Amino acid sequence: MSDEINKEIERRRTFAIISHPDAGKTTLTEKLLLFGGAIHVAGAVKSNKIKKTATSDWMDIEKQRGISVATSVMGFNYGDYKINILDTPGHQDFAEDTFRTLTAVDSVIIVVDVAKGVETQTRRLMEVCRMRNTPVIIFVNKLDREGRDPFDILDELEQELKIGVRPLSWPINIGAKFKGVYNIYEHGLDLFTPSKQTVTERVEIDDVASPLVDELVGEADAAKLREDLELIEGVYPDFDVQEYLRGELAPVFFGSALNTFGVKELLDCFVKIAPSPRPVNAVEREVKPSEGAFTGFVFKIHANMDPNHRSCIAFVKVCSGKFERNVNYKHVRQGKMLRFAAPTAFMAQKKSIVDEAFPGDIVGIPDTGNFKIGDTLTSGEELHFKGLPSFSPEMFKYIENADPMKAKQLDKGIHQLMDEGVAQLFTNQFNGRKIIGTVGQLQFEVIQYRLLHEYGAQCRWEPLSLYKACWIDSDDAEALAAFKKRKHQFMATDKDGRDVFLADSNYVLQMAQSDFPKIRFRFTSELGTRDD
Ligand code: G4P
Repeated sequence: MSDEINKEIERRRTFAIISHPDAGKTTLTEKLLLFGGAIHVAGAVKSNKIKKTATSDWMDIEKQRGISVATSVMGFNYGDYKINILDTPGHQDFAEDTFRTLTAVDSVIIVVDVAKGVETQTRRLMEVCRMRNTPVIIFVNKLDREGRDPFDILDELEQELKIGVRPLSWPINIGAKFKGVYNIYEHGLDLFTPSKQTVTERVEIDDVASPLVDELVGEADAAKLREDLELIEGVYPDFDVQEYLRGELAPVFFGSALNTFGVKELLDCFVKIAPSPRPVNAVEREVKPSEGAFTGFVFKIHANMDPNHRSCIAFVKVCSGKFERNVNYKHVRQGKMLRFAAPTAFMAQKKSIVDEAFPGDIVGIPDTGNFKIGDTLTSGEELHFKGLPSFSPEMFKYIENADPMKAKQLDKGIHQLMDEGVAQLFTNQFNGRKIIGTVGQLQFEVIQYRLLHEYGAQCRWEPLSLYKACWIDSDDAEALAAFKKRKHQFMATDKDGRDVFLADSNYVLQMAQSDFPKIRFRFTSELGTRDD
């Protein structure tokens, strides 16, 4: 691999910002884009945002889908670095989308609201990061508002997110009395002036004992700061980048995204310590970014808004080598060579055709149904990247055809939406009925709407009370056959033909587990690996 390509890999930082809705993810994203010169006014990202209340109008979501292609990947240069921020939907009904996006990032910034601490969505997303040992930086936001004691927040982060923490900046007061933060990482005092557009001045401090600190923040607050810092040095071990890179330790920054306060410090530290593209595991072997041959995988498929042209964009993360326009690559699942004439990249909120892309980059490939989530592209090698497990859905409904003349369209629509990863399809083996499983109520509405508008098919939902769908297998073929016979009314297959047991209550599931010890019950299924 040439030095030029290694240099490109080295300077890339591909990450996602994740948070519980309302903690400040959109605001922080926007401020990072401002620093990168990718946008020039605050509000540019915000206006693209999907409303996040549970009652949000799904028509809005429909409208937003089109716009959000532009914000799916936000690439920009910052100093010597090329930064790719992968957007994740704020609405929790689309958590599955977020999980998948996390397969394509090399690190993550978690935003936490100082008043609310760790919330449900943060906890769930962190679980996914932990599964993949993704390095995590935490930004505690909204210091300009009244909130919790920072030491309490640190304890909560450690306990709830099950990761070691190490503050690299420290607030001086909070809320109305908030005066700024002391940057432990760079030894400087950042003084707070509420402002949505301007960036704070930094006062370099060699030693926190300096009388300059008293002058700047007052004696009482200076004394408290020194006391806090002493405590931090005593309680928390020194920051070790390697621990961070292994996903064991999260550096913590404090600030206020809305006031652009603490954001530049976060970004400057981020580009220095965050990993460049990391090796990616395939079923066959580990793939290193510096390998010469191109490899990549599809982590997201975005349907086009135009119902007359059922085209999509498949988002491919480049894992190794150099991706080039108009070169033949192998679509491993289909076993055929494909060539892409109009791949797009996402820079400064603009989508444009690119000739080449490097590991860490995301390429958008216009597609008319060739791709499924988890598909691998290579220069020829028979390789299957491991996807992220698809989680057992939490809500289930029977899907019925409401227009007998359009059965074919319905079938096609359902299958394509499932390939896009909108929801999961199970077919009951006993009565042949189709079941859709989702993680949120909103998906049922989105599916119904899209089936009608993109495929001209009408569907009807019928209630189904299920507790869980679990993938089952066993090393003992007889035991498996016996289980399937006994539970034949509750056996289904997923879209790849794997056996799924539909448990209608926790009790039934527990009984099945104790009655059939030779059966493995799994609550996740790996996307993209069909032979697991
Ligand atoms: P999200 O993407 O994580 O859902 O959060 P978002 O950035 O939309 O922020 C949620 C709300 O919190 C917004 O207010 C935003 O202005 C506010 N916010 C973000 N950062 C800070 C901060 O540092 N300090 C304070 N005080 N507020 C902050 P909103 O009323 O929902 O939206 P808007 O009407 O202000 O646009």
